Amino acid sequence: MKAIIIQGSSRNNGNTHKVSVELQKHLNCDIINLKDKNIGHYDYEYNNQDDDFPALIEKIANEYDLIIFASPVYWYTMSGLTKVFFDRISDTIRISKDVGRKLRGKKMAALSCGYGSDAIEGFFLPFQKSADYLGIEYVGNIHTWVQTDSLDDEVKGIIKEFAERIKE
Ligand SMILES: Cc1cc2nc3c(=O)[nH]c(=O)nc-3n(C[C@H](O)[C@H](O)[C@H](O)COP(=O)(O)O)c2cc1C
Repeated sequence: MKAIIIQGSSRNNGNTHKVSVELQKHLNCDIINLKDKNIGHYDYEYNNQDDDFPALIEKIANEYDLIIFASPVYWYTMSGLTKVFFDRISDTIRISKDVGRKLRGKKMAALSCGYGSDAIEGFFLPFQKSADYLGIEYVGNIHTWVQTDSLDDEVKGIIKEFAERIKE
């Protein structure tokens, strides 16, 4: 199973990156940073089809079986970068329907990264509901946290168990 982590942090080498790399070690998967991409907000007139979203979603639809969203907790919810990416998935329902069809039957998982160990209530609901709507199988989620330069053993354990669960 080929997997990709879609990292939605506002810094490429921050805490979400640390946990994404730890997950990558177990899954041997690719990581992309949404911060490196030029992805505009959803546009009802679709006047942003020359940005990076169309090529990125097509690559994901063509090459990967498991899509893992790794988002920091920003104001109790997913990061803006992650949310804009989700909004743009609407393009695949309206104008790039062939890409939307290819997303069906894939798997999705999600990971949150905060400062504290308590997961945010309801954080994963939009991921789960969006997967259901898109015909994607939602295979699970974990909350992680980073308080120092290195990852806690507890967080490493949670990530290892998650990797084993979602790659089945
Ligand atoms: C804009 C912003 C909003 C944040 N909001 C929350 C929050 O609501 N709850 C929380 O526990 N942590 C919050 N934090 C802390 C981050 O979730 C935490 O430091 C996270 O590990 C940062 O990951 P990053 O380095 O990938 O950005 C916030 C941080 C930022 C920059």
